[in-house]
Amino acid sequence: MPMPAAFRTARVLLCSGFFLFSLHFVFAQASQTIRPTAASAKASSTTSSTTMTSHVDASADASKYVGSETCKSCHEDTYNSWEKSPHWTSTQAKEGGATHKGCEGCHGPGADHVAGGGDKSKIFTFKDASRQQTSARCLTCHGNGKEQSHFASSAHSSSDVGCLDCHSPHHAKESQGLLTKSSPELCYGCHTAAKADFAKPYHHRVNEGLVQCNDCHNPHGTELLRQVRALPSGDAVCYKCHADKQGPFVYEHVPVKTEGCSSCHSPHGSTNPRLLKVSLVNVLCLQCHTFPSLGPVGPAHNQSAKYQACTLCHSQIHGSNFSSVFFK
Ligand code: HEC
Ligand code: HEC
Ligand code: HEC
Ligand code: HEC
Ligand code: HEC
Ligand code: HEC
Ligand code: HEC
Ligand code: HEC
Ligand code: HEC
Ligand code: HEC
Repeated sequence: MPMPAAFRTARVLLCSGFFLFSLHFVFAQASQTIRPTAASAKASSTTSSTTMTSHVDASADASKYVGSETCKSCHEDTYNSWEKSPHWTSTQAKEGGATHKGCEGCHGPGADHVAGGGDKSKIFTFKDASRQQTSARCLTCHGNGKEQSHFASSAHSSSDVGCLDCHSPHHAKESQGLLTKSSPELCYGCHTAAKADFAKPYHHRVNEGLVQCNDCHNPHGTELLRQVRALPSGDAVCYKCHADKQGPFVYEHVPVKTEGCSSCHSPHGSTNPRLLKVSLVNVLCLQCHTFPSLGPVGPAHNQSAKYQACTLCHSQIHGSNFSSVFFK
């Protein structure tokens, strides 16, 4: 029994409408916010001046840069720890010139600061800068990085969360990734709802260290809503670990592909087995399969009256190569 053609069409239109809307949303955001960053990253890599920040780029005058060895003479401890950090490698970079090297790659040209005997007003110190400013400064080098390229349009950036909320170049608590705290504690500090979800009886084992927030999200933003990652193919990130659900199947269960895994599962955690959104499988199925005239085809056998799980018979609920009703 096929579902009425009109409804099918409406459903498809609804789905693609939402998809287009999300795309529109992403691009609208991107065109507002990414452009200045991309433009400034380009400007500084060609070492021409830019209006973005006052210290790093206002003067591409090489004579204003003294080199990290000079900083060492007065800031020895800072220098010694920086020398062991990943940022030291910027001194080896062949591109970018003085603006992209060593201490001054972040703090800007130091000549006036040094001439003033350490005049704090003559160097970019980060602590008085806004999050927008600090993030823009970090992005002069990291803006073209694969992982950070969507930062400007990310939920974090739009909510005034900046690089230094999670990273600290000099005072990191975690050497890997220069994080201020290790994940997930770092994330739980702001995301109490996620913390509660991962404490539920059925959950992805994030607290146990088996799965990371970062496996599914990119905290620097993505092209998708909720900063959710996609596989390089564009498919749902869930398939990275649940490849058996990917198919393609001869008989696809439509919502798996159109509405995604989250239409039936709570990806963080749930009080229901299999991370299901509702406690009874039958209630889940009947949310969509209730009114044959409106929704997808309903069970003509009307099992809803019986206390038998739909998945007892329809066991291959993510799709099947053998049964159009997902028996095997
Ligand atoms: C990757 C960017 C970056 C590089 C490279 C860098 N700094 Fe910093 N620096 C910062 C940030 C950000 C802060 C603010 C404190 C923090 O978040 O760690 C800071 C703070 C400081 C401070 C204030 C005191 C403190 O420890 O917070 C001094 C002094 C300083 N940096 C000196 C240096 C010197 C000297 C070098 C080179 C040896 C250097 N910085 C390299 C980003 C950088
Ligand atoms: C002649 C010594 C000297 C040299 C060379 C020097 N500084 Fe400083 N720097 C100081 C002094 C003194 C202070 C002020 C410290 C204070 O008041 O706590 C200072 C402060 C700073 C601060 C601000 C710290 C804060 O707490 O706000 C930063 C950032 C900084 N220096 C970075 C650099 C960098 C980068 C270089 C190399 C380009 C450099 N300094 C070279 C002496 C020097
Ligand atoms: C002058 C260029 C430059 C600037 C500006 C810069 N970085 Fe970096 N950053 C680098 C380089 C180079 C590396 C090492 C890359 C590598 O190992 O592949 C790096 C590495 C990192 C890493 C990875 C550390 C790891 O464990 O692999 C983090 C995190 C990071 N930077 C954060 C920041 C933050 C936050 C800022 C702004 C405060 C910043 N960076 C500013 C050049 C820069
Ligand atoms: C909400 C927290 C958060 C914010 C905000 C954030 N990061 Fe990260 N960043 C992370 C986490 C978590 C990792 C993964 C660390 C690991 O496990 O290696 C990471 C990794 C990185 C890395 C290393 C991985 C790579 O190769 O790209 C760099 C570089 C980096 N961040 C730069 C930045 C810059 C620059 C900003 C600001 C524009 C920023 N981050 C903002 C949380 C954050
Ligand atoms: C300094 C506070 C802070 C930290 C730390 C932080 N976040 Fe966020 N995060 C926010 C804010 C604020 C928002 C935007 C408002 C919201 O949706 O909660 C946000 C949004 C998000 C979103 C998108 C939610 C949406 O509705 O679009 C995800 C996903 C996310 N954060 C994941 C992480 C992960 C993963 C970490 C740890 C690596 C982390 N956050 C660390 C403050 C933080
Ligand atoms: C197994 C994959 C996965 C892991 C691991 C994961 N998330 Fe999510 N998260 C998602 C998906 C998918 C969504 C979007 C859900 C939706 O569209 O309804 C989401 C949504 C969110 C949101 C938006 C609000 C909400 O609850 O819907 C935040 C904030 C968030 N995640 C933070 C985190 C943090 C923090 C961690 C680590 C402690 C984490 N996530 C780990 C997949 C994951
Ligand atoms: C990084 C790998 C990874 C990613 C990405 C991932 N998962 Fe998982 N998932 C697991 C692991 C491992 C388990 C087994 C959980 C356990 O035993 O603690 C699991 C368990 C589950 C379960 C419960 C299985 C059961 O038998 O109870 C569901 C449902 C699930 N994942 C759905 C999703 C969805 C939906 C996504 C995408 C939003 C996703 N997973 C992304 C690794 C992953
Ligand atoms: C139409 C609802 C629905 C959608 C959409 C859905 N699932 Fe499920 N999933 C279920 C049900 C129901 C079960 C429990 C089956 C059972 O109890 O036998 C389940 C079980 C699972 C399990 C654990 C048992 C097993 O078969 O391995 C995993 C893992 C899982 N789903 C992952 C996913 C992933 C990944 C996606 C997205 C690609 C997804 N699911 C989409 C309904 C759905
Ligand atoms: C999010 C909505 C949704 C949920 C939840 C859902 N389905 Fe479906 N299901 C659909 C759609 C849409 C179709 C495709 C209908 C069509 O093409 O005529 C479908 C098709 C089917 C079919 C094949 C019907 C046929 O004749 O081809 C079966 C069997 C089925 N679902 C069983 C289930 C079971 C059992 C559950 C609960 C584990 C479930 N569905 C949960 C939306 C849903
Ligand atoms: C005892 C086994 C059994 C249970 C339990 C069961 N079904 Fe079925 N279902 C069937 C059979 C048999 C068919 C018809 C298969 C065929 O015609 O090839 C069917 C067909 C369907 C169809 C396709 C439309 C139709 O009626 O032919 C849907 C949708 C469906 N079932 C949904 C459900 C839902 C939702 C539940 C739980 C409320 C459920 N089923 C429980 C055995 C079962």
